[in-house]
Amino acid sequence: MEPILKQVNVKLLTGNIFKLLDNDWMLITAGTKDSFNTMTASWGSFGILWNKPVAIGFIRPQRHTFEFVNTSDFFTLSFFNEKYRDVLNFCGHHSGRSVDKVLKTGISIASTNNGSVYFAEAKLVFECKKIYSDDLKEENFIQADLMQKIYPKKDFHRFFIGEITSCLSVEIPPKEIGLKFDETKGDNV
Ligand SMILES: Cc1cc2nc3c(=O)[nH]c(=O)nc-3n(C[C@H](O)[C@H](O)[C@H](O)COP(=O)(O)O)c2cc1C
Repeated sequence: MEPILKQVNVKLLTGNIFKLLDNDWMLITAGTKDSFNTMTASWGSFGILWNKPVAIGFIRPQRHTFEFVNTSDFFTLSFFNEKYRDVLNFCGHHSGRSVDKVLKTGISIASTNNGSVYFAEAKLVFECKKIYSDDLKEENFIQADLMQKIYPKKDFHRFFIGEITSCLSVEIPPKEIGLKFDETKGDNV
């Protein structure tokens, strides 16, 4: 049976985001139910920017998913239990250009009120509305050795900063106390 996902306030999440990204991995998905693509990702970031809760995804230009995230207003990040490791491995080693990842893995698509696609089997989902994107640039690397190691082909990631517009979780936080994001700090933080 699919887990029941409930809308939660991100400030009440209890998981460790470093573990979620580095060990559990996620599926980045964009497009509509009729035309979308998804891929596994483990590089990313979550935080507060412009007084908003944000998530940042890093996608190399050759990924099929790149085209979908690049041209969509929204993207989603779906996290799963260990049971779905094979699904994440599959979606991280095959391209949507040549296989239907949903058909091959058997995961079920669902969509938010904004029409963003995510997966019903996920334990945690973030819907993000794109605010800003840019490519990482060779000349801006301060650690040149890292740049040479990660980008021998110069296929620099494009990063997409998205405002988290919705967070769905199977874990119900202890108490929904409706924490607000602090806009009283002003715009020059
Ligand atoms: C564990 C794991 C993490 C990955 N993280 C990223 C990532 O953060 N960014 C990225 O561009 N590719 C990442 N990839 C590679 C893509 O998932 C992979 O190239 C995928 O096949 C792309 O599919 P697509 O062409 O359908 O978009 C990762 C792969 C794995 C297995």
